[in-house]
Amino acid sequence: MPKVTFIKDGKETTVEFEHGKLEYQHHGLPESFLDVAMNFGIPLEHACGGSCACTTCHLIVRKGMENLSEEQDNELDRLDTAWDLTTSSRLGCQAVIKGDVVVEFPMYTRNYVQEGGGIQLGKSDEKERQNGAQP
Ligand code: FES
Repeated sequence: MPKVTFIKDGKETTVEFEHGKLEYQHHGLPESFLDVAMNFGIPLEHACGGSCACTTCHLIVRKGMENLSEEQDNELDRLDTAWDLTTSSRLGCQAVIKGDVVVEFPMYTRNYVQEGGGIQLGKSDEKERQNGAQP
């Protein structure tokens, strides 16, 4: 049974699951970090719904990189745009867990579109728009 430890703000949460027994949550790949997080109520952002189209599910692998599925080109291309990218970065919705692993949430994620839709404009953008600038 793979053990998955999530570290957020220095606080560790460890969960275990049995391969083939996890109820698929229809976000990200089955048995990915996102799928596991959703099964255990661990808040992992996933603005694009787990379809490898954002980087809000970015995680940094601290242990057990060898216990994850290999990165595919679409994940690598998407990761290139992640804030705070490291050589141990993975997308939570694309990395499938094969064994024990420890991951940490990065300090920041890039979220252009909040869940539920709608683009969040910063105050300065709003001001520019009022002054006639094109968004
Ligand atoms: S949730 Fe958007 S890329 Fe993983």
